[in-house]
Amino acid sequence: MSPVSGLDVRPRRSEDLPELAEVLVKVHALDGYPVEGVADPIGWLTPPRTFGAWTAVYGGRPIGQATITRATADDDAARIWHEHTGEDLDQLAIPARLFIDPDHRKNGAGGALLAVIRNHAENHGLEVAFDVMLKDRAAIRLYEASGCTRIGLIEHHHGDGKIEPAAVYVVDRPGPRGGRIQ
Ligand SMILES: CC(C)(COP(=O)(O)OP(=O)(O)OC[C@H]1O[C@@H](n2cnc3c(N)ncnc32)[C@H](O)[C@@H]1OP(=O)(O)O)[C@@H](O)C(=O)NCCC(=O)NCCS
Repeated sequence: MSPVSGLDVRPRRSEDLPELAEVLVKVHALDGYPVEGVADPIGWLTPPRTFGAWTAVYGGRPIGQATITRATADDDAARIWHEHTGEDLDQLAIPARLFIDPDHRKNGAGGALLAVIRNHAENHGLEVAFDVMLKDRAAIRLYEASGCTRIGLIEHHHGDGKIEPAAVYVVDRPGPRGGRIQ
């Protein structure tokens, strides 16, 4: 579905971070995302090994964002992807930190950010895998409607012994003769 008019996705600027941090606090209050909490929103918005970050903007104001990071062996999604494909982790990108202001959802912003992530990875010749908590049902609907395929289930351990069930997805990309490869 096309994003509503007035919505734009552009590379994230450092001056977006304070407003995105405020949006993140709202998202956490509503959705419990991220499960680790938002004690240091700006630190959380700038994870290590980021090689792209984009801001969704509506009416000139940041309303959400996403980043893409290089995979490492300590990432659960990367581990499952490696078991599934047998490929090296330097072939893999991991999207992270995707969220949209609750007041601006269902306008296509999340889908537009996911499309930019997918293009960026493809331009770098990288596959894409990531995990999502099963409780984040809007995100799962978005991923499954956007051509992502579930390849495994994991448990996300956080805080004082808390466990959150999660699924690992890959982003399918076009294959030869218009088919899909995973
Ligand atoms: C997941 C999330 C990012 C989706 O953001 P979003 O901007 O609402 O996403 P979209 O608008 O692209 O798509 C969401 C829905 O709106 C619909 N939609 C998209 N564009 C639309 C339009 N122009 N008109 C009407 N509906 C539209 C989509 O079909 C989809 O419908 P569905 O939920 O019934 O399947 C958002 O819900 C969120 O921030 N959740 C909390 C954080 C989170 O879980 N992050 C993911 C971590 S892995």
